[in-house]
Amino acid sequence: MSTQRNVAVIVGSLRKESFNRKMAQALMGLAPEHLHCAIQEIGDLPMYNQDLETASPPAAWQSFRDAIRGADALLFVTPEYNRSLPGGLKNAIDVGSRPIGHSVWSGRPGGVISVTSGMLGALAGNQALRQALTGVNVPTLPHPEIYVGQAATLFDAAGKLTSDSTRELLQKYMNAYVHWIERNAKA
Ligand code: FNR
Repeated sequence: MSTQRNVAVIVGSLRKESFNRKMAQALMGLAPEHLHCAIQEIGDLPMYNQDLETASPPAAWQSFRDAIRGADALLFVTPEYNRSLPGGLKNAIDVGSRPIGHSVWSGRPGGVISVTSGMLGALAGNQALRQALTGVNVPTLPHPEIYVGQAATLFDAAGKLTSDSTRELLQKYMNAYVHWIERNAKA
């Protein structure tokens, strides 16, 4: 029997009708039973400011840090903003990385998928996020890479994924991600 694993799913877009959020939900639907995936919200995190890093930092920072500490693995689904990762997502990474010596990211295996309504699959955002994750010692699944473009064509009005070929790709990704977690999970 496989060990139960908690996966924190982090969506880089904050908008309600986000294609990235819909893709994250489709991906979560393909996870095996032993993976407990839950979206960890980042929209209410105050901007990182070291002056707030006191004995009582913002409550939203603390609950976010606790949630990531409770996760065995991480799954990021993000758009690209101006050839990089969205600022809100970078802020979440910064919040989790401090206080120094107490980063909640370190050693938790991760996966990165990028999704855009544009043509190029948000490749630059995906790569920029991987770079930041390397800096906080999150090893990210190298392959398969998933860069989803033209996302507006992939969902129905209720937000359900309608593309069978994309679902197959997501399933391949999920299978590889499960192995990645087992290879890299903390003891
Ligand atoms: C974008 N978008 C965008 N797309 C892209 O492929 N490369 C880019 O550099 C940018 N830059 C960018 C900046 C800002 C500020 C916004 C708001 C948008 C388009 C964006 O990635 C696209 O609309 C995604 O579909 C947004 O993701 P959600 O919200 O659908 O998950």
